[in-house]
Amino acid sequence: MVRKKTEFLYLCEEDMISAGVLDGAQCVATIDEMFKVVGQGDYLMGGYNENEHGVRIIFPVEKRFPNMPVAGPDRRFMAMVAYLGGKFNVCAEKWYGSNIENPKRGLPRSVLIVVLNDVETGEPLALMSANLLSAMRTGSVPAVGAKYLARKGADTASLIGAGVISRATLTCLKAALPGLKVAKIYDLVKEKAEAFGETISRELGIQVQAVASMEEAVGGSDFISIATAGKKKPEIQTKWLKPDAVLAMQGTADLSDDLFLSSTVVFDELKMHWAWKEEEERIPDSDAARKLGFPGENVFRLIDQGKMQKSDLRGLSAIAAGKQLGRSSANERFVMIIGGMPVEDAAWGWALYQNALKKGIGQKLTLWNSPHWL
Ligand SMILES: NC(=O)c1ccc[n+]([C@@H]2O[C@H](COP(=O)([O-])OP(=O)(O)OC[C@H]3O[C@@H](n4cnc5c(N)ncnc54)[C@H](O)[C@@H]3O)[C@@H](O)[C@H]2O)c1
Repeated sequence: MVRKKTEFLYLCEEDMISAGVLDGAQCVATIDEMFKVVGQGDYLMGGYNENEHGVRIIFPVEKRFPNMPVAGPDRRFMAMVAYLGGKFNVCAEKWYGSNIENPKRGLPRSVLIVVLNDVETGEPLALMSANLLSAMRTGSVPAVGAKYLARKGADTASLIGAGVISRATLTCLKAALPGLKVAKIYDLVKEKAEAFGETISRELGIQVQAVASMEEAVGGSDFISIATAGKKKPEIQTKWLKPDAVLAMQGTADLSDDLFLSSTVVFDELKMHWAWKEEEERIPDSDAARKLGFPGENVFRLIDQGKMQKSDLRGLSAIAAGKQLGRSSANERFVMIIGGMPVEDAAWGWALYQNALKKGIGQKLTLWNSPHWL
């Protein structure tokens, strides 16, 4: 038996940029295709329920050992795994650590890598620097939502939180909404919003205006994306929103029950959010400090209270696959709850891997010349 050499492609952040990771139009098209494949059911995520968002290391509240980390806001390690079918036919894992103190050390809050694997042999195909990959795939989801849900002629978008996810979101929204003319940005830290406005206006060639309050940000906007991190959840009042607006939550926010009840709620993939609910419910209330919460918890509470029906909920994957309606009337308002799925990392990672192969980008690394033990 000839022992097989295994090589894989290593793509550092600069390689990922050369491979097109910041290309909003290709990213939105790829993630739209992914939602269609997921809507057909041709995917598997982790766990027996096939729909786990990821497996997380849950840190204890009190220090148990000198070096063991403790729980804190946005403090986690997470492994997110998926098989994605259709044209992608690939397995992927995203593995990351997140610490809100990182920017003080000159690092992004989260540090991420993605591995792609051959679905037959399990060999690695690529190891990729994934901060930009992950930010762009995250930003593309509201943009795919905008394609199916935003009012015709939508021209105004708002971003809450001037971080990397908002930056990627606006890049992708510009690709998905051809009429987009104005964007507003609001951040608790005014200087961050101003710097964001200046940089992104230049980069995208649209007017991006920093505003001083949440109300100003949200009012009159066709599409609003919330992507903040940290303890203070953004609070949004229903009366500030246009009746035909789309509000996309990529992080957590305090939205009132009446906003959910007066809007159509769209999840990225509903099955994953049910699995999330089950996982969170396994942590007893006596250990509440270790619960991180999950994005759909208020909607599921309304369902448990009988105020909403499960059948009222929609999924972006089902909409993209033509199994559920997108916007069905001019005055319909949407709240999108976006948890983020490992299939997105698989899709965008696979597309960038193809780009890198075509362009000869990256460094070939050897796993083994010949497996030592067979
Ligand atoms: N759904 C997904 O797939 C997905 C993927 C990645 C990240 N996220 C989430 O997106 C969020 C943003 O991530 P990021 O990497 O851009 O974070 P970041 O730390 O780079 O930026 C967050 C920004 O939000 C601002 N902020 C915090 N609280 C605020 C408030 N109440 N009002 C206005 N601004 C506020 C901060 O000042 C900061 O500038 C996080 O919650 C993260 O968990 C979601």
